[in-house]
Amino acid sequence: MFDKLKKIFKNVKNSENDSCCDFNIEEIDENQNSNNSAEKDSCCDLEIAAKSEDEIKNEVDFDRKKQKVKNKYGRIIKEKAGTGCCSIDENKKEIPSFGVGDPLNYANIKSGEYVIDIGSGPGKNCLKAAKIVGDKVKVIGLDMTEEMINSASEQAQNQGLNNVEFVNGDAEDIPFAENYFDVAISDCVINLIPDKEKVFTEIYRVLKKDGRMVISDVVSDKKFPSELKEDDELWCGCVSGAIPEKDYLNLIKKAGFEEIEIVEKNESKQELEGINIFHITVRGIK
Ligand SMILES: C[S@@+](CC[C@H](N)C(=O)[O-])C[C@H]1O[C@@H](n2cnc3c(N)ncnc32)[C@H](O)[C@@H]1O
Repeated sequence: MFDKLKKIFKNVKNSENDSCCDFNIEEIDENQNSNNSAEKDSCCDLEIAAKSEDEIKNEVDFDRKKQKVKNKYGRIIKEKAGTGCCSIDENKKEIPSFGVGDPLNYANIKSGEYVIDIGSGPGKNCLKAAKIVGDKVKVIGLDMTEEMINSASEQAQNQGLNNVEFVNGDAEDIPFAENYFDVAISDCVINLIPDKEKVFTEIYRVLKKDGRMVISDVVSDKKFPSELKEDDELWCGCVSGAIPEKDYLNLIKKAGFEEIEIVEKNESKQELEGINIFHITVRGIK
């Protein structure tokens, strides 16, 4: 296993050393490779038995991927925030960011607008947005990693911001009513999510008519083979969960978005086994 990973990492060219995308084989926790299917109760076993082998495998992998992502980002924010509790080190002051772009820069948020940040992480973009929208509305940061929610909430409190709330939830099933938000932003999150189509459909659902979505994310120029997709460390490092740019844009279109436009595109920063990975910021209107 380690030999295989070392070989793969050797092939990652020009990898940026930011905290979400660094690859550290020491982070691999073989013990966390638990198979969630073992935890299913008997009613779910019956349901699974009716599905094909491939469907079962995908579901199990999807569950494991989410758990791996939670573990990784829970661990990272604890390390960044200091030991023992979730406070960001007072001496460092700066709230960490694990993003790859600047969706806020293209979201043109105005006072009074309802904003949701999908996969808000340490909350940097939410806190910035909260200062723009004013006291009459709330900015929502949605993240499935409890440690991120705790850390971001603490930052909001430290900054005396009452118009931002961090909600623990899954972007594949956004816990808000339809037509609720004016703006949805996200930075370096959807590549980590197994069912990207569902996420875009969910973002579309919770946006008001004419609402806008601005997403920065990692995409590729070719499909990653399943062997690399199955590699949890590459997936959690924002590499092999990326899909080709044109597939990404098609999913946004399929969800119903219009006026889809790439507002920023970075030159290729990484190459893995002949597949280029790069960052885009894309905007769409409901
Ligand atoms: C690379 S970090 C980016 C965090 C933040 N957007 C930033 O720019 O700093 C990815 C974040 O997405 C969150 N995440 C991943 N999958 C998610 C999902 N299905 N639902 C909600 N949050 C998710 C992780 O918990 C993590 O905080």
